[in-house]
Amino acid sequence: MQKHPLIIALDFNNLQEVQSFLRPFKGKDLYVKVGMELFYKEGPTIIHYLKSEGYQIFLDLKLHDIPNTVKKGMQSLASLGVDLVNVHAAGGRTMMEAALEGLEAGAIGKRPKLIAVTQLTSTNDEMLRNELLIQHSLSETVISYARLSQDSGLDGVVCSVLEVPMLNEVCGSNFLTVTPGIRLASDAKDDQARVATPADAKNAGSSMIVVGRSITKAENPLEKYELMKNEWDGVTV
Ligand code: C5P
Repeated sequence: MQKHPLIIALDFNNLQEVQSFLRPFKGKDLYVKVGMELFYKEGPTIIHYLKSEGYQIFLDLKLHDIPNTVKKGMQSLASLGVDLVNVHAAGGRTMMEAALEGLEAGAIGKRPKLIAVTQLTSTNDEMLRNELLIQHSLSETVISYARLSQDSGLDGVVCSVLEVPMLNEVCGSNFLTVTPGIRLASDAKDDQARVATPADAKNAGSSMIVVGRSITKAENPLEKYELMKNEWDGVTV
């Protein structure tokens, strides 16, 4: 098991697209992420397929509901044998504790790790104030939600690379920081407002990086994966 994996975001429409993307990676020790788009289309079938290939799985469904519903939902997800799942910290302490209870109850073997989304990267200070009526700054809420997640027993948070040093200071480096928004310096930023390279993420102290389009849209995805993984692993070539 990799301690600091590079997680490939499988943002595809269906199982066939995933299978054709993964063909060149056959036999590799991969960690992949399945999001709403793919899971809502294919359901557990996609998870069974990825597990049969021996891959580790981050099922990124960001649960946010009343505690009992989240508990039951997590119990079902844990029974699929995934490795990492997430909730919105905005659901509060009782909901996060219930999520953990559900995971314990449904786990086959080891409990999947549970991380929280603090604030979505699409949220900004103006939206916090004017729409959500939250008077604190975005970074104050990120710190406070991360602390709440840690106090509720969670294993970490999803965050931007820029937030990692601050979160490692507040929550300690054993608290996972899973960071999307990763690009090579030469890549397009797409719709990500703030991006970081794998080396930036390593220097900042990220626990895991999530890479989507930089790899999935590359001309040679396997080559691009190796390049980014080497940079993340600190391999100099
Ligand atoms: O293609 P790209 O590398 O930007 O994909 C990043 C992945 O990480 C996507 O699946 C996206 O949904 C996810 N993500 C993100 N920002 C967050 C949380 C998740 O980009 N704050």
